[in-house]
Amino acid sequence: MRILGIETSCDETSAAIVEASGGLTRPRFRILSNIVSSQATLHAKYGGVVPTLAKREHQKNLPRVLTLALKGTPIPKINAIAVTIGPGLEPALWAGINFAKTLAAKWKKPLIGVNHLEGHIYSNWLQPVGETLHPKSRIRNKSKIQKLKTIQPVFPAVCLIVSGGHTELILMEGHGNYRLLGETRDDAAGEAYDKVARLLGLGFPGGPIIDKIVSSYPSSPLPYPIKLPRPMLHTKDYDFSFAGLKTAVRYLVHDLNAKKKAIPVKEIAAEFQAAVIDVLKKKTLRASREYGARSIMISGGVSANSSLRAAFEESGALFPPLELTGDNAAMIAMAGYIRHTQKIKHTSETLSADANLQIAK
Ligand code: KG4
Ligand code: ZN
Repeated sequence: MRILGIETSCDETSAAIVEASGGLTRPRFRILSNIVSSQATLHAKYGGVVPTLAKREHQKNLPRVLTLALKGTPIPKINAIAVTIGPGLEPALWAGINFAKTLAAKWKKPLIGVNHLEGHIYSNWLQPVGETLHPKSRIRNKSKIQKLKTIQPVFPAVCLIVSGGHTELILMEGHGNYRLLGETRDDAAGEAYDKVARLLGLGFPGGPIIDKIVSSYPSSPLPYPIKLPRPMLHTKDYDFSFAGLKTAVRYLVHDLNAKKKAIPVKEIAAEFQAAVIDVLKKKTLRASREYGARSIMISGGVSANSSLRAAFEESGALFPPLELTGDNAAMIAMAGYIRHTQKIKHTSETLSADANLQIAK
């Protein structure tokens, strides 16, 4: 069957068509189109995403991305419409939901409400075909369209979602069967990247910029020794905290400024990234051991990070293809297929936005 996916939870407006088959035992996916229109530059001047502005942009962009996504797929060939219902910015979510409802009524198609985080997890079901390049070389080849194939991760799986809005460690024991092991108590990992990049006078979003700076920098020994904290590295739970790390960078920059010393941007960026990765790696691998995980899946915007990929290389953790790490509608259509197969459908009356939608208790 063919699923139209719609995603508007944050600052990307996206529509995608995914061909799916195989049911719950062996789901298979083929992306026919995945159009993403980013508002990042628009929100950059405000230093973060402005919800009402995002909503207006989504409303403006949705018809455009839909037209592009539909290219080659006649309406009768679409079997269902999957749309993100949360978590996310409520006004932004409603833009996508109302659009999906209108299409569902006009085209007489079933509606599927999808949890955005579940979408990120399903981005791991597609992997690039061919020889596996070193993660860093994959970054450089980003513009090259990769051919993707479906893989079948084995359960139980430990899933780490790291994005601008989320840092969650989830135990997945089957399709639709999730247990939240831990989450961030303050800032998300991507949010920390963005805030630290701002403190260092780099652009927005900061994640890809810090990634690039650090990759092009000889690792050790650091000519300028800086030590930043690894918050909650040794706590017995699976929670995270990144606000303290950002504050440590703020004090360091403030201190250097007060002493009229130059800011060693590359060194600070490298140590900050090392601290984030140390914590993410340690807790994810510990959860994987404790729960006897047979797969580790890492997803979300930060999963594009080349050093994070390198750090998990030995563990065999799965990472999505680079074009699926950020918010996109193909992952929503994929998760929607699973929901559809489980007969979880919605009507226009029952479908509504839930800004704080949980994946599991
Ligand atoms: O998943 P996403 O596109 O949107 C949310 O749902 O939040 O994630 C965006 C986040 C931003 O904070 C961005 O800085 C971060 O992902 N990010 C990265 C990289 N690419 C994007 N962080 C570290 N390294 C990267 N290469
Ligand atoms: Zn996301």
